[in-house]
Amino acid sequence: MIRQLQETDHKIDIRMLNKSYQMGEQSLHVLKDINFTVDEGEFVAILGPSGSGKSTLMNVIGCMDQWDTGEYYLDGMPVHALNGKELTQIRNEKIGFVFQNYHLIPAYTVLQNVIMPLLMRGIDHKTAEDMCMDTIRLLGLGERLHHKPNELSGGQKQRVAIARALVGKPAILLADEPSGALDSKMGKEVLRLFGELNAMGNTIVMITHDLEVAKAAQRVVRIVDGKLYHKEEQEATG
Ligand SMILES: Nc1ncnc2c1ncn2[C@@H]1O[C@H](COP(=O)(O)OP(=O)(O)O)[C@@H](O)[C@H]1O
Ligand SMILES: [Mg+2]
Repeated sequence: MIRQLQETDHKIDIRMLNKSYQMGEQSLHVLKDINFTVDEGEFVAILGPSGSGKSTLMNVIGCMDQWDTGEYYLDGMPVHALNGKELTQIRNEKIGFVFQNYHLIPAYTVLQNVIMPLLMRGIDHKTAEDMCMDTIRLLGLGERLHHKPNELSGGQKQRVAIARALVGKPAILLADEPSGALDSKMGKEVLRLFGELNAMGNTIVMITHDLEVAKAAQRVVRIVDGKLYHKEEQEATG
């Protein structure tokens, strides 16, 4: 069991976090005194150029990588105090990942891809399938249940990946360039979908190098050379 501490009300609360990569004698300081909070129901974009530290920060937020100093609370859990097994558990339960290149299993159907994280959690097949059907219909994939990824458009593949990320009701939807592999029309559709999911109450953190993509979010923070710069809220766009 993971101890629940009531140290913060934020969904994500990162305090003075630093991370360096060690390469032989050389040390590369990649995340510098990062302070970052995300509240329930927010849609935040992390915007930065190539090499600025976005993927490194995403790996930290997604509980996939360690860091050197600083604290990280995820949905009230002190990630900095968890062991490897607890990290795996918190990652599976609290984070829904969406990647640029979908990361679907090619041999699996839409339903099989979406159900997988639930089965891995030990949920029985009937319950898991009911949960999947709701999410799959929500994402407009009800007619594609038994299709495999290579029978779907890029936009449909990304919707399958989003269904898989959402089906376990994660605390955070964490997306890395979710529209990056799509043409501009499908990319806009995926971003509009993120807006709708956010309006339904989902908390979203999206990482991108593209200002136009970042504008889909309610709030944009910039990362430059490993430092985070907070800006005021964007005006709502129509
Ligand atoms: N595993 C690693 N070992 C050493 N250096 C790394 C590693 N991963 C990333 N870096 C370096 O850290 C910096 C930030 O990389 P990254 O987080 O991938 O940035 P971004 O995703 O914004 O392009 C870059 O200078 C990159 O070369
Ligand atoms: Mg990257």
